[in-house]
Amino acid sequence: MFRRCRRPKTLGVSLVLLVLCVQILHMLLEMQREATPAASSGTFDTAFGSDFLKIAYGGINNRLGRSQQSIRMYGPFAPDFSDSVGLKDLQRYDCVRALEGFQQHQPLPSAPVKRLSDQDFIRLTKDCKQFRSKYGYQRYRTVTQEELNFPLAFNILLYKDVDQLHILLRAIYRPHNSYCLHVDGNASPDVYSAASGLANCLDNVFLVSQRENITYGGFSRLQADINCMKNHMHRTSSNPHYTNETSLHQQSTSPWRYLINLPSQQFPLKTNLELVKILQIYNGSNDIEGITGGRMMRSRFAFKHEYRRHPNTGRVEIVKTDTPHPPPPHNITVVKGSAYGVFSRQFVQFLLQDARARDLLEWCRSVSSPDEYYWATLHHDAKLNAPGGYSGPPDKKPWLAVYASWPPRDLCLSGKSVRGVCIFGVRDLPQLVSRKELFANKFYMDFQPEALHCLDQWIMNKSRAALPVETFYYRQLPFVRR
Ligand SMILES: *[C@@H]1O[C@H](CO)[C@@H](O)[C@H](O)[C@H]1NC(C)=O
Ligand SMILES: *[C@@H]1O[C@H](CO)[C@@H](O)[C@H](O)[C@H]1NC(C)=O
Ligand SMILES: *[C@@H]1O[C@H](CO)[C@@H](O)[C@H](O)[C@H]1NC(C)=O
Ligand SMILES: *[C@@H]1O[C@H](CO)[C@@H](O)[C@H](O)[C@H]1NC(C)=O
Ligand SMILES: *[C@@H]1O[C@H](CO)[C@@H](O)[C@H](O)[C@H]1NC(C)=O
Repeated sequence: MFRRCRRPKTLGVSLVLLVLCVQILHMLLEMQREATPAASSGTFDTAFGSDFLKIAYGGINNRLGRSQQSIRMYGPFAPDFSDSVGLKDLQRYDCVRALEGFQQHQPLPSAPVKRLSDQDFIRLTKDCKQFRSKYGYQRYRTVTQEELNFPLAFNILLYKDVDQLHILLRAIYRPHNSYCLHVDGNASPDVYSAASGLANCLDNVFLVSQRENITYGGFSRLQADINCMKNHMHRTSSNPHYTNETSLHQQSTSPWRYLINLPSQQFPLKTNLELVKILQIYNGSNDIEGITGGRMMRSRFAFKHEYRRHPNTGRVEIVKTDTPHPPPPHNITVVKGSAYGVFSRQFVQFLLQDARARDLLEWCRSVSSPDEYYWATLHHDAKLNAPGGYSGPPDKKPWLAVYASWPPRDLCLSGKSVRGVCIFGVRDLPQLVSRKELFANKFYMDFQPEALHCLDQWIMNKSRAALPVETFYYRQLPFVRR
C-alpha cells in the first residue's frame, strides 16, 4: 500500500524550489542575526532550526535532503488530530519561542495538563483503527527506503505513567521497527492492561514474554533487558512481519540492525531517519559508555550482594555483604558504564550466545547495579573481542546513546533533579535541541510537560521536513569501525 512521491515534473520547478529554499535560508539567517545578537552558537542553531521548520512545514516541505531518496508513503491516511502531536491542552503554547530560549522561567501558568489514565488507554485501544489514527501512530506519513532497509529494535522498560510511554512510543514508532515493552512485574495490573492495549493495536510492538519484578539496583533490571533482547532475536529470526509482502513495513527486507534500550522517561532528540543515518555511520560499532579508575564504585562488585525482603515494606532490596566477591571469570576486566546504550545486532547475538558472556552474566548476580557493568565490560574487554566492541581507553571516547545532565557538573536549568539526574524543563529545551546524543533522559509528565510537548512538536516537524543530517561529527568518532 505505498506509492512513490511524485518528483517535480520539470527541471524548472526543481530549480525554482531550490532557489526559494536558498533565499529563505539566507533571509532567516539574517533575521536571526538581528534578533539574537548575543546568542551562543547553540541557541542560534536552535532558533534557526525551529523557524526554518515552521516555514518548511507550510511551504517548501520535503524537498531538502530527500531529493535523492526513494520516498514511500504509509497510507491510507487519517486527518491530523490535535491528539497526534504534543499534548492536547498545550496546543496554544508557543514552542518555537520555547526552543529558542525565550520562555525563560515561565512554564505555562495554567491548570494542570489533563492526563490520559490507564483506564483511558484500556478503553481507547479497544478500537485500534481509531486509536492509531487519532492518537498519532500514523502521523509520520512517509518513510525512506533507507529507513526500511535499516530497521531498529527498542526495549522500553516501564513501571507507571502509560501516557508518558505513549508520548515516547509514538515519537519513535514506525511499523517496520520492533518495540519490546517490559512492564515491571510489580506494576499495577491496570498499567499492564493499558500497555497490552497499545501492543495489541500496533504492529511490531509486543510485550516481553518473561516479566521481571524489578528491584532498584538489582539483577532483575538487567535481566529485563536481556529478556527483551531474546524476544527481539527470536522474532526476527522467524519474523513473518518482514517477509510477508502485503503491507508497507513488510517491504523491509532485513532484520533489525541495532537495538536501543530506553526507560519510558527518555525522549528522542533525533528522528528515525537521523538515527538510521547515524547508525549506518557507526558501521556495526556499539555506543556504550566506559568508566574506569576512581569512578567505578568498586565495592558494588568487589563484595557479594544479596537480596532480602524488607520486614516492613515487604519490598525486595539488594544489600551489600562483607563477603568478598571473586573477580569475574575468564580474566575479564570490569568496566563501568550506563544501563543504556546502542547495541549492534551482532553484539546482542554475542551476549546471548557466547559462553564467556553468559558466565559473566552469572557473576553479575551478586553485583549491585549490574546493568551498569555488564554491557560496558563486554564492550571494552579486549580478550572477549565482542562484535562492535572498543579496545581503546574506555573513558576517552564520547558516548552518545543518551544525554543525562548531572548537576552541578552539567546544566540543569529546570532546577529540578532526582537522584542526581536533572529532570528537564522548558528552560532546558535550547540546550537539548542542539545536542549530539540520540536521546535525552529524563522527563516527568507532571513536571513542566511543556518540555515533552515541544520536543514532540520539534521531532515531528523535523521528521516531516527531512532536513539534511549533519553527519561530519559522527563520522570522526573514535569508536566507529573503519
Ligand atoms: C513477582 O511478584 C509477584 C507478586 O508480586 C509474584 O507472584 C511473582 O511470582 C514474582 N515473579 C518473579 C519472577 O519473581
Ligand atoms: C500476509 O499476511 C496476511 C495477513 O496476516 C495474509 O492474509 C497473507 O496471506 C500473507 N501473505 C503471504 C504471502 O504470506
Ligand atoms: C589476565 O589479564 C591480565 C591483563 O588484563 C594479564 O596481565 C594476565 O596475564 C591475565 N591472566 C591470565 C591467567 O590470563
Ligand atoms: C511545527 O510545525 C507546526 C505547523 O507548521 C507549527 O505550528 C509549529 O510551531 C512547529 N513547531 C516547531 C517546534 O517547530
Ligand atoms: C565498516 O567496517 C568494515 C569492517 O571493519 C570495514 O571493512 C569497512 O571499511 C567499514 N566501512 C566504512 C565506511 O568505514
